[in-house]
Amino acid sequence: MPEAPTLRTERLILRPWRETDLAPFAALNADDRVTLTLGGSIDRAASDAMAGRIIEGFAKRGYGYWAVEVPNEAPFIGFVGLSVPSFEAHFTPAIEIGWRLLYDHWGKGYATEGARAALDFGFNAAKLDEIVAFTAASNSRSRAVMERLGMHTDPKDDFGHERLGKAHPLYHHVLYRLTRGEWRRQPV
Ligand SMILES: CC(C)(COP(=O)(O)OP(=O)(O)OC[C@H]1O[C@@H](n2cnc3c(N)ncnc32)[C@H](O)[C@@H]1OP(=O)(O)O)[C@@H](O)C(=O)NCCC(=O)NCCS
Repeated sequence: MPEAPTLRTERLILRPWRETDLAPFAALNADDRVTLTLGGSIDRAASDAMAGRIIEGFAKRGYGYWAVEVPNEAPFIGFVGLSVPSFEAHFTPAIEIGWRLLYDHWGKGYATEGARAALDFGFNAAKLDEIVAFTAASNSRSRAVMERLGMHTDPKDDFGHERLGKAHPLYHHVLYRLTRGEWRRQPV
């Protein structure tokens, strides 16, 4: 089983998950300010189960949603990384990039900084041809991260998240794409 790689950026460490991440991850998943755009909070058992699926994904693929640490400041601030969408849509199969941070660590550029390292890993180490990202159309903070990364959207790729159902306020989703060529052509 491949050990999850550790990625380093100027301010962050993206690392394998630890047992001690589970409590702050549960706190993140119980915080309505964070989960408003995710369909609502979940309890400790569901949070632990999600972490378990993330860890299993690393074992299967060698990458996933990394636990994010700010050295000397915060041992766990959330996750950033690559995943496989667990539902079928017009753009699947695909590899997606995603992020979820503790509220106190928003507004510092950490999601974008971590995501750049994850994209670099996805394109250069995992040799992916394309990475997508999607979110509820109303999730402007997440869309801003996608746009800062140079990802692009096309109205033709908009989709309804069938698992949520048409009446759900988060039903309408936007898809962003980025190819390896586009990533490599971006100015450093
Ligand atoms: C989506 C989410 C990760 C975005 O977090 P974020 O902090 O807004 O995004 P970034 O980390 O890229 O930070 C960007 C902000 O930091 C600011 N910033 C401060 N210091 C900075 C620095 N040194 N470098 C870069 N940006 C910095 C930027 O100006 C920007 O501020 P703005 O929002 O006022 O424009 C966060 O809102 C979240 O966890 N949301 C809930 C979960 C969720 O919706 N996940 C996505 C599901 S698809």
